[in-house]
Amino acid sequence: MKNVIEVKKITKKYGEFKALDNLQFNVEEGEIVGLLGPNGSGKSTSINCMLSLLKFDKGSIKIFDKEMTPESYETKSKIGVIFQDVAVFEELKVYENIDYFCGLYIKDKHVREEYVEEAIKLVGLNEFKNHLPKQLSGGLLRRLNIACGIAHKPSLIFLDEPTVAVDPQSRNNILEGIKKLNKSGATIIYTTHYMEEVEQLCDRILIIDKGKIIANGTKEELKGIIDIAEKVTVEFEELEKDYIDKIKKQRNVLDIDSKNNTFKISYKKGKNNLVNLINFLSDEKIKYNKIYSELPTLNDVFLELTGKELRD
Ligand SMILES: Nc1ncnc2c1ncn2[C@@H]1O[C@H](COP(=O)(O)OP(=O)(O)O)[C@@H](O)[C@H]1O
Ligand SMILES: [Mg+2]
Repeated sequence: MKNVIEVKKITKKYGEFKALDNLQFNVEEGEIVGLLGPNGSGKSTSINCMLSLLKFDKGSIKIFDKEMTPESYETKSKIGVIFQDVAVFEELKVYENIDYFCGLYIKDKHVREEYVEEAIKLVGLNEFKNHLPKQLSGGLLRRLNIACGIAHKPSLIFLDEPTVAVDPQSRNNILEGIKKLNKSGATIIYTTHYMEEVEQLCDRILIIDKGKIIANGTKEELKGIIDIAEKVTVEFEELEKDYIDKIKKQRNVLDIDSKNNTFKISYKKGKNNLVNLINFLSDEKIKYNKIYSELPTLNDVFLELTGKELRD
């Protein structure tokens, strides 16, 4: 596979503070890559560096095999960007906004008409073509912002936290739209601090913290690098403190978290953890209402790598 983006050892400082610290990764053609990290971890800064909107102190960035510079107009015409903050013209209607942004790249009027219609359809704004941005809900406004960024059919698309504070319907529309863009050939970089989104959407995930890539792989690979391999939740009828010590001594148990009558037991890799626990509970005649096993989440990965929660 061809590399579409090559980021090599980028350091970006604000004064003495390193917003990006030796950042390095590649993105291959056709991938949806998720850049997952908490607020302030450097997601937007890295996008701005990749687009050459921001100067950096060290390192190099290639896009489509060419060094990226502020003058890389040819490269930029193949890129679509959806910034974290919505940027549309308040005085232009939905259709006119998309037509304006598309017109920066597509000069042929008939082709543009077709592209604008396709973008409107993709984000589901058909009924709102003649609305002004201020007449749209937050979710619809985000969808307009996306349509403006992708109408010219770019082959590389950056989306910076496009689902923050949107309703579930718009969120689904946005995630489905991104999958469709990818199916039609676009490479996607998607930043978010929502782990569920990268799990649902991305082929590969880069976890970023304090300006550094701390993990890089598929969700299965990332979950494979941590000690926790399985989490079992048990909801007891009533809590008896000495259950905890007994369960802690069981094979493969790493840790137990208890809240009210619910225990969350983390296990390291091993066979039959759930079965062993059920057998133990039945031997001890301990009653429970519910018991179920789950795989670790990306939050568990983040927690184990950094010692803190991904969620804010
Ligand atoms: N113009 C700036 N001046 C100083 N610090 C900045 C500036 N822009 C961003 N930062 C800092 O750089 C870090 C990374 O910011 P950012 O890339 O916006 O994070 P994210 O997008 O992951 O939330 C944060 O600590 C932020 O406060
Ligand atoms: Mg940001």
